[in-house]
Amino acid sequence: MKRLDTILSLLSPGCRLADIGCDHAYIPVAAVSSGAASFAYASDVREGPLSRARENAEKAGLSDRIVLDLADGLENAEKYAPDTVVIAGMGGELIAGIIDKADFVKKGGVRLILQPMTCPEKLRRYLLSAGFAITAERLAKEDRRIYQIIVCEYTKETGNYTETELLTGKNTEDKELLPALYRKYINKYEKIIKGKAASGVDHSFEDKISGELKEKYENNRAL
Ligand SMILES: C[S@@+](CC[C@H](N)C(=O)[O-])C[C@H]1O[C@@H](n2cnc3c(N)ncnc32)[C@H](O)[C@@H]1O
Repeated sequence: MKRLDTILSLLSPGCRLADIGCDHAYIPVAAVSSGAASFAYASDVREGPLSRARENAEKAGLSDRIVLDLADGLENAEKYAPDTVVIAGMGGELIAGIIDKADFVKKGGVRLILQPMTCPEKLRRYLLSAGFAITAERLAKEDRRIYQIIVCEYTKETGNYTETELLTGKNTEDKELLPALYRKYINKYEKIIKGKAASGVDHSFEDKISGELKEKYENNRAL
């Protein structure tokens, strides 16, 4: 499945959606028109993307069911009482920072659907240390790129993943795309190891991750 379709498939029918960093508003428009969301709050920190969102919501005849807002992260979202928050297409550290500033998502009852473009390990590390439980993991493929989608909810319990699990997730349901995800990181770590070896820097940390990724790759390829 493609990236945005995979995100849409994770919405519970009739949810109250907040899409943060909505850009073109593809997610809220598709979600409200299909009934996957009964209402959507869509925000972006920049006026340009927000005017694209406004145009698309108007074109779809959904201006009365999608609230568009110029806002930084989740700063104005609480008053719309979302039960589902999507933050997609941004760096993992930026997503973690947005969540960290929003106390209302740390009360429970709000599902977060997150799709980091970079640093998924930093995002998972933050989530697990801040008391979020990762409840589902999905992969999507588009233009030969693999995307990771993380679903979580605040439970107060902290969690522990290995470095490799932080990078690629745990219990990912998409077995078909897993070998490609592992291969991507094997290649990345081989480059890092080569670079460190060439400059005489210790690479035992990367060796361990690379070894685990190779084992996972072989096990999943065999499925
Ligand atoms: C690459 S687009 C992703 C759009 C859409 N969510 C998707 O996944 O296709 C990232 C958007 O996030 C917005 N953005 C970046 N930082 C933000 C923040 N702190 N709060 C709200 N929006 C932000 C950008 O302006 C941009 O429109």
